[in-house]
Amino acid sequence: MLMSNRFFVAIVVLGLASTLVYASDPSSLQDFCIAVNDPKSAVFVNGKFCKDPKLATADDFFFHGLRGLRNTSNSVGSTVTPVDVMQIPGLNTLGISLVRIDYAPNGLIPPHMHPRASEILVVLEGTLYVGFVTSNTDNRLFTKVLYRGDVFVFPEGLIHFQFNLGKSNAVALAGLSSQNPGIITVANAVFGSNPKISADVLAKAFQVDKKIVDYLEAKFW
Ligand SMILES: *[C@@H]1O[C@H](CO)[C@@H](O)[C@H](O)[C@H]1NC(C)=O
Repeated sequence: MLMSNRFFVAIVVLGLASTLVYASDPSSLQDFCIAVNDPKSAVFVNGKFCKDPKLATADDFFFHGLRGLRNTSNSVGSTVTPVDVMQIPGLNTLGISLVRIDYAPNGLIPPHMHPRASEILVVLEGTLYVGFVTSNTDNRLFTKVLYRGDVFVFPEGLIHFQFNLGKSNAVALAGLSSQNPGIITVANAVFGSNPKISADVLAKAFQVDKKIVDYLEAKFW
């Protein structure tokens, strides 16, 4: 009886451990696996083909594209500069990436989610109002005003946003727990899908008149 209880506990602990392991990208089975687009003379692991490690150079792990302010002249007043496996092929299989975010005064990163990553954001300049909403069990909103040097976490898969409250530009860096976090911006995905979602579907989903759906679809197309 005692043995079988212990066995049961061991099974539960193992089950929890494997859940934790698969909560983000799979762990690497080698030091690195530099992504190459040409599958000829390459090895497939997960995500991207790997370059022959003997041909690796420091540039495979390097990106200089975050120097200087970004142009935030667009409809939302913000610009995201990703640094993921597309910019740094050496990130392949490592389960991590980065973004730089520039915000004009009143600039917004609209409500969105990352299907494959949690996010940890640090404010380098400015003042941000940030928040995320939990899933449909209670749709609880968590918000905070962040100042220079402050850090906030957005859990994987939850809808979140950042808004520049300050009168000057703001800049943040965010680490993400995937080499390829993905992004789904709610308004763009729902009202700008290709082809369009039926206006009947959206009118009922948002409990509004179809004219409002047509208006929003026109904006995001
Ligand atoms: C910023 O982007 C806008 C819109 O694309 C463009 O009109 C403007 O010239 C750009 N500004 C700079 C400084 O590049």
